[in-house]
Amino acid sequence: MAPTVNPASSRLFEPIQVGRMKLSHRIVFPPLTRNRNDDDHTPLPFMARYYADRASTPGTLVISEATAVSHLEEGQDNTPGFVSDRQIVAWKTIIDAVHEKGSYYFQQVWGMGRASYPELMRRKGLKYRSSSAVPMEGVDAVPEEMTEEDIVETIQSFADTAKRVIAAGGDGVEVHCAHGYLLDQFLSDAVNKRTDKWGGSTENRARLVLEVIKAVVDAVGADRVALRLSPYAAFQQAEKGDIHGQYLYLIAQLKTTVPPLAYLSLVEATGDPGALIFGGKAVNQGKTLDFILEAWDNRSPVIVAGGYHPETAAWAVEKRYNKWNTLVAFGRHFLANPDLVFRIRHKIELNKYNRPTFYLAKNEIGYNDYPFSKEYLAAQQRQFPSSLSCFPEGGG
Ligand code: PHB
Repeated sequence: MAPTVNPASSRLFEPIQVGRMKLSHRIVFPPLTRNRNDDDHTPLPFMARYYADRASTPGTLVISEATAVSHLEEGQDNTPGFVSDRQIVAWKTIIDAVHEKGSYYFQQVWGMGRASYPELMRRKGLKYRSSSAVPMEGVDAVPEEMTEEDIVETIQSFADTAKRVIAAGGDGVEVHCAHGYLLDQFLSDAVNKRTDKWGGSTENRARLVLEVIKAVVDAVGADRVALRLSPYAAFQQAEKGDIHGQYLYLIAQLKTTVPPLAYLSLVEATGDPGALIFGGKAVNQGKTLDFILEAWDNRSPVIVAGGYHPETAAWAVEKRYNKWNTLVAFGRHFLANPDLVFRIRHKIELNKYNRPTFYLAKNEIGYNDYPFSKEYLAAQQRQFPSSLSCFPEGGG
């Protein structure tokens, strides 16, 4: 990449309509698994502050961490679900806190499949399952191949969860079909070895995600639905032998079977969590998302993600992807900078993220203690001189 664009005055700050939302800029807070939920997979109260802080510039799109569509998919400790009344009430507090800032909220929803922890599933008496009985590297357990009944139930769970999110006030749901989680385990020919209608061909491997999207669209409307894909990621071995063929088929079907989605979210080759977070092998480097953007052809806006910083993001929206309606997500920088949007706009240096605390379960350290800039706090003071901060210690 050859960044020559000044982020502060770039198209990053050009407003954009996404589904029903009028975003004031194109900097997105993307889904980040952070393990701050309780042992019952319910958000802890302090999560509301975390999300609200990152919504602090009105008109920001905030997307939740990945959230299970059924208790069967609450497969890792301290990750959330959106199923029980307790979970719904906890999420509603978070959704309301984001809306109070004048920002927007999508819930990312997923199944984990074989990325669940087998030992946790055993303890809970739940089936450890995937598209096929293909174990994940380094995991000493073989998942059970999901039955037709399991698959039908899963589709229904996505639709039911979408309805619960909208009923709780959410602006929409982003279906997670990336990074080797459940839907990606069906899309990947390295994982999916089925010979029924859910596997065995490009068309059949795409069937589950397409059925899920159709069901969710029927449940809440296409302009409240988004889809996340990571065509190049090797994380959890969900690789595809024919990346172009598999994704071009999926995109073509999305264009002909459902009305335009709110947005498509695409992870760059540089965003593979396997390499980025867990030090695994970096594959497909240098490959680009152009083929999907061309095929999608501005049907709705596209969020790109994967190791961006403000300069490369500005360059992406203004040069690299200037034919397309794009937004850019920043995971680690947004974690470390609750006022990231303000900082980019005013050229303020960014806080550094602290990797060892990314997944510190149930803990506010590395989560609610990244400070706002003094410039942001001063601007708030000028704008609302008599208002008391909800978080007077200055972290929020
Ligand atoms: C993770 O838990 O590390 C994780 C979750 C969802 C993703 C990527 C990584 O899409």
